[in-house]
Amino acid sequence: MVIEECKLISNSRLARETYAMELAAPAIAATVNPGQFVNILISEGWSPLLRRPMSVASRKADRIGLIYKVVGSGTRAMTEWPPGQVVNLLGPLGNGWSVADDTFPVLVGGGAGIAPISFLHEELISHGRDHYLLMGTRGKDDHYLNHDPGNNITLTTEDGTVGMHGTVMDGLLKVLDQSSTGQITLFGCGPPTMLSALKDFVLERGLPCQLATETLMACGFGICQGCSVELKTDESHSLPSYRNHFKLACVDGPVFWAHELA
Ligand SMILES: Cc1cc2nc3c(=O)[nH]c(=O)nc-3n(C[C@H](O)[C@H](O)[C@H](O)COP(=O)(O)OP(=O)(O)OC[C@H]3O[C@@H](n4cnc5c(N)ncnc54)[C@H](O)[C@@H]3O)c2cc1C
Ligand code: FES
Repeated sequence: MVIEECKLISNSRLARETYAMELAAPAIAATVNPGQFVNILISEGWSPLLRRPMSVASRKADRIGLIYKVVGSGTRAMTEWPPGQVVNLLGPLGNGWSVADDTFPVLVGGGAGIAPISFLHEELISHGRDHYLLMGTRGKDDHYLNHDPGNNITLTTEDGTVGMHGTVMDGLLKVLDQSSTGQITLFGCGPPTMLSALKDFVLERGLPCQLATETLMACGFGICQGCSVELKTDESHSLPSYRNHFKLACVDGPVFWAHELA
């Protein structure tokens, strides 16, 4: 983990309320893995006070990419940063995805959850690993990938304006029903309702699944305890302890196995 002053290379609109940013970040790019994130200093002043966490969405040589959705003052301010601006990043943070060699990865992203899924998708392509990618949004204006089921990419939209009509969970059901691959592992990131639906689905089917949580957080490296995630209670521990019931999204996560979470 380093604090790095990074030169902004580009910052442009990608889809509805969604922007992509590329930064020269040699130190972070050298060690970052898919699923990890950076904590961004938005302002040197008091407002907004805290850094804002963003998953790394890509890495090319000494550059990293971020994909961010505008939701409040911090992300709104980011849209105004011009190329050449120096951005203070803390990272890479968190654990990242772990992909076993003997499994077929199925990647499921929703809304702003595209970023860590996108990085994993690019990394799997660069290693020549077959996998499936599903991305779900409300409508066509939220997507920037092409619907391409022949190449294992399915887009879903809730209004039916592109790809398959329905939620990403509808898309997942269809893909799994048509799939003849062996052991799969799911990798999911998206809004809380999507993560919750995905978690219920994989637990019911007994499928292995890693979920990237986007818990509200502050420090990003285990000091403030502000990002606790409740675990399923493990009654086998003889001594009850806070750590048996909670993990920290910033250091133990943000990626967790679905079966671990309460
Ligand atoms: C590990 C991690 C990785 C993330 N990666 C990405 C990413 O790649 N792209 C992206 O667009 N966003 C990502 N987020 C969410 C992002 O950090 C927040 O959207 C951002 O901090 C909001 O800042 P703001 O100042 O614009 O909004 P604020 O003014 O702080 O908040 C505006 C609204 O957004 C809600 N909000 C704020 N933070 C979060 C959050 N973490 N999760 C859910 N709702 C939130 C607030 O409750 C409020 O309703 C990630 C969050 C975490 C914890
Ligand atoms: S964000 Fe501070 S402990 Fe996790």
